[in-house]
Order: sequence, then structure tokens, then C-alpha cells
Amino acid sequence: MCGIVGYIGKKPAFSILLSGLKRLEYRGYDSYGFCVLNQQNEPFLYKKVGKISEAEVELSNLKVNGRVGIAHTRWATTGAVTEANAHPHFDCKKDIFLVHNGIIENYREIKEKLIKEGHKFTSETDTEVVVHLIEKYFQGNLEEAVRKALKEVRGTYGIAVISKKDPEKIVAARLSSPLILGINQDEFLVASDPAAIITHTRQVINLDDNEIAVLRPDNFFILKEKPLTTIEWTPEEAEKGGYPHFMLKEIMEEPEAIENAIRGRLIPEEGSVKLGGLINVSEKLREINRLILVACGTAFHAARVGEYMLEEYAGIPTEVDIGSEFRYRKPIVDKKTAAIFVSQSGETADTLAALREMKEKGILTIGITNVVGSTQSRETDAGVYTRSGPEIAVASTKAFLGQLATLAMLTVYLGRQKEMGLVMGKRIISELAKIPDLARNVLKSAPEFAETSSHLTPRSTLSNSAIEKLAEKYKDFKNFWFIGRKYNQPIALEGALKLKEISYLHAEGVAGGELKHGPLALIDENFPTIAICPSDSVYEKMISNIQEIKARGGLVIAIATEGNEEIKKLVDDVIYIPKTLEMLTPMLSVIPLHFFAYCLAVLLEKDVDKPRNLAKSCTTE
Ligand code: AGP
Repeated sequence: MCGIVGYIGKKPAFSILLSGLKRLEYRGYDSYGFCVLNQQNEPFLYKKVGKISEAEVELSNLKVNGRVGIAHTRWATTGAVTEANAHPHFDCKKDIFLVHNGIIENYREIKEKLIKEGHKFTSETDTEVVVHLIEKYFQGNLEEAVRKALKEVRGTYGIAVISKKDPEKIVAARLSSPLILGINQDEFLVASDPAAIITHTRQVINLDDNEIAVLRPDNFFILKEKPLTTIEWTPEEAEKGGYPHFMLKEIMEEPEAIENAIRGRLIPEEGSVKLGGLINVSEKLREINRLILVACGTAFHAARVGEYMLEEYAGIPTEVDIGSEFRYRKPIVDKKTAAIFVSQSGETADTLAALREMKEKGILTIGITNVVGSTQSRETDAGVYTRSGPEIAVASTKAFLGQLATLAMLTVYLGRQKEMGLVMGKRIISELAKIPDLARNVLKSAPEFAETSSHLTPRSTLSNSAIEKLAEKYKDFKNFWFIGRKYNQPIALEGALKLKEISYLHAEGVAGGELKHGPLALIDENFPTIAICPSDSVYEKMISNIQEIKARGGLVIAIATEGNEEIKKLVDDVIYIPKTLEMLTPMLSVIPLHFFAYCLAVLLEKDVDKPRNLAKSCTTE
């Protein structure tokens, strides 16, 4: 997944492209490039391997004229990390320049054909075939040539194109990869996501699949009319707010994310919830007798917690699957089945493909999404926004809490339509309303980092927070187990995923009851276990699992409920969380795990916000 940005207007384009690209760097950061046309329509082409943030000084000293330009930050898919493979790509005569996010699946056969027709290629990428196709069809009108060229490509794309032969315009088009237009008084922008343009405008148009936009210095047009969407976020919200990492900022915002999700939606006196996004389908939902939840990664873990909630409290048979499997399965569904898709970005290709499968079969589709106006939110029949605000760090944290809060509300919504009584509804609602403050209590043991100059310089001395001390104590271990049962089994998976994706340590989440069926063989003094064991209906079972581990010399860190002194005698370390309803404990037990992973990654000097090999949302299969 790459990041693209384009600018056309009255201001010098280069610095605007540069600041936009920096905000897109989390989308891919192995190489970058710019192309700006000056007043004589001569191109300034600049491509480099490496991260923008590491070349800021050099770039900001570049004197680049021109008010039309495109730029790109790359996450290599086809073709190695080289300057030649960096974008923008250009045609044989260096007249046309193009940046691309996505994958051209049939590029080999197109390339072969174009080479036979005399085209000279300078890169190994799939993208370059598109600019040569545009060159092939160029008769003086750029958008016409783009339209013809795109008819030949198969795959996914968000592209922006400029040409010195038809200057004073940017042509942009999309198919599956996200692309938005930024509309301002006398300037226009195109970008992969709002973060790149939010400091210039908050008026955006989401380009839809198979749409082509033409941006000129004083106007723009799209082949099809689109609704205007106003971004709720402020520029400040997209900044780090003084934290050394977006991930720490977003963990600190977890209580607020829950608060935002439930604000104005709880109806305590009726023991119910109001979810405006489901009004049009509420009668259909009343007929539903089976639910399928589909998601990927962290969102999948939220869906797994939702499964327990929906079965136990809404009494609806529920199954959960990962998008990349579900899209190729042949699930038995009927008109009384509803499919729920959970995604922070709303752009995850595997989840979207599963969604389109269910739409194909005429199944009611519901979205639980964070990004407003994203593809999932536009393609599902109805849905609920989690309102977690912008999540910049690749590792998803606060959005996960927003998803759990939304699934808890959905459980009450559907439960009250069916067997759930007023008393139980009221109980869940009143407990849910308390969670934001309880979560703040958990964060009280959080590290207070001062602003650090370079984001990879961890503090030499740790502050005295409990979780930081634990991270310091366990930082030399290479393997970790996370165990949990029932509502906290998915939290064990989530704790392991967070540790893996930002610290690169080996970690596995497993159901407590599964240990004896194999994983116990790995337990010894070098393989610590984090046991999530709040005082709930399976607490005793978790204690026997902890004893199994201790009997084999394993170290155990327990996540336990405040007031449980007993557990101290059994385990090596304890992190306490406040008491709440069993079904809501995941919203408290996960917070120390997100922190623990963060602290370890900082101690191990990892690039916390941009872990290697990963991307914020996987828009390609
Ligand atoms: C989580 O930290 C990861 N970034 C990843 O697993 C993520 O949860 C997954 O790609 C799903 O993304 P989505 O919620 O945007 O669909």
C-alpha cells in the first residue's frame, strides 16, 4: 500500500506535496518521488530510496518552481526497492508522469505488447505499463488517454497523472484503492487519505470506483456527480499532541474512543441503545436469526469478542471468520442471515471482498467502521461508525476499543429486539457508561513520556510506572504466551498480535484450555506467559492453567481484578484492572497489553509507529 498526493493551484506545489507525503509515510516508506511542472511546463522529477522523514532538510532546501505536481511514497509490491522503481513513472518521451497505489494484475501481458510496439521500459514495476498505455492513446487530451488506457488494465489502482503536453491539469482515477479530492477556493488536491490534505482543506470528495477526475487550477470535474463529505477531524487531532509516538497518543485516547462510541447512543431509562445508522434496516434485523462477523487482524479479535456477547446476551447464533478465508469459503447463508463487517480503515481488501460476496447473495450487510466515507461504509447496507478519530499508528489500539464498545451496543440493540429484558438491558448500559472512567484508572499506571527529539531514542531510565517496570524486567525474553478464556481468549490473541507487530518478538495467544493439548510443551523459565484472568465465570479454570505453567517453572504475569490478593501468591507479577461485567472485561484487560507491547518496542528501539513489513490498512489482497 502506497501513498499518493497531487496539487494544482496558485501556490508552489513542492512544499505542499512534501508535507502531504510526510503525513502519508505510514502507508509505505521504502522510497519516494515527486514530479512538478514549472511555468514552462518543464518537469522537475526527483526520486529517492529511503524515508522522507530522513531527508527532510535536504528536500526543504530544494528550490522547485511550479504549481502543478504529484508525489508518491512507496511500499514495494512489484519490483525491488530501487530509485528506478520509485514513482513517478514516465513514458518513453518523459512527457507524461504517473503515481499509483494498487496492483496491476495483467501488467506482464500489457508490457510484452507495448515492448513489441516499441515502448522502452525503465523499471520492473507493474505501474509503468499504465503510463505507456496513456502515451499510446495520447492525442492531446490527457483524461481521454487515461480513460482509454484504464480500460485495458485489470487490478486495483488510485492514480494521479500529469503531462507537459496537456499541462495545467491533474487527471486522477480509482478502482478499489482509496482516493479523495480536496476542494478549496482556488486550489485542488488529490490524495490516498485525508491526512495528506487536511491542513489545506476539509472539503473532500471521495472518488468512487471507475471514476475519473480532472483537476485544473480554477476548477475540476468528475465524470459522475458525488456527495460532498465534511471531515470531522481537526488538523491538531491528526498531529502527535506532544507524544513521542502516535501509538502512545492513541493508547492514551482509548477511554475517549469508548466515550465517543457510546456518546448519545445509550438510553439508560429504556435499557436500550439508539444506533441511527441502523434505523433503515431495524425491521429487517428483527427477522434475523443468524449473524456472521467478518474482519481481519485486530478487527477480527474484536469480532471474536462480539461473538461471545451476541450469543450470550442477544441469543443470536453467531459465527466469526477472517476476511481472507471467508471470501473463498462457501458459507451457507439465507435471507435470515445478516453479515457484519468490522474494519478501522474500511478499506481492507479481504474484508471488502467478503462484503461484496454477501451483497452478491442478497444478504443484509452491516458495517462497523471508523473512517467516515470509506468504501466499507459506502458499500454496506447500513452501519455504525465507531468514532475513534484518526488512527495513524500502524498498530491498531483505540479503534479496537471503539469496535468493542460498538459491538456491546449492537448486542443490546439486537438483544432488546429479541429476548433481552429491560433489567439486563439497563445493567449492561449502566456498566458500559462507566467503562471510560474505569479505563482511565487502568491508564493511571501509564508511562508519561516527555517529548523526545528522534522517535527511536527511548528513555535511558524508565519512569516508575508498573507496566514500564514489567517491560524492563521482561525485555530480554524472546518468546511470550498470552492465555485467556471466553471473552478474554480473543484478548490473548490481540495481546500477542500487538507484541509481534511492533517488537518483532515471537508471541502466541491461546485459549487457556488448549495449553494441555500441546502448547504446554514450550513452557519453561525462558517462555513467560501473560494470563488474562479477571474474576469472571472462568476464573477458576484460568487458575488451574496458571498452576499447570508454574508447575513447569514458567513465569506468569497475571491481568487480574482489583482486590484479588490471592493471585499474588501464585504468579510472578500482577497488573490489576477494575471490576466490571464479564462481557465488558475485554475493554479493560486489553489496555495493559497494548501498553506492555508499546513499552517493550520502545525499549527494543523499534520504529513503533511504522513497524517493518506492515501497512496501516491492506488495500490489496
Ligand atoms: C492491527 O494492529 C493491524 N494494523 C492489522 O492487523 C489491522 O487490524 C488489519 O489490517 C485490519 O485493518 P482494518 O481494521 O482497517 O480493516
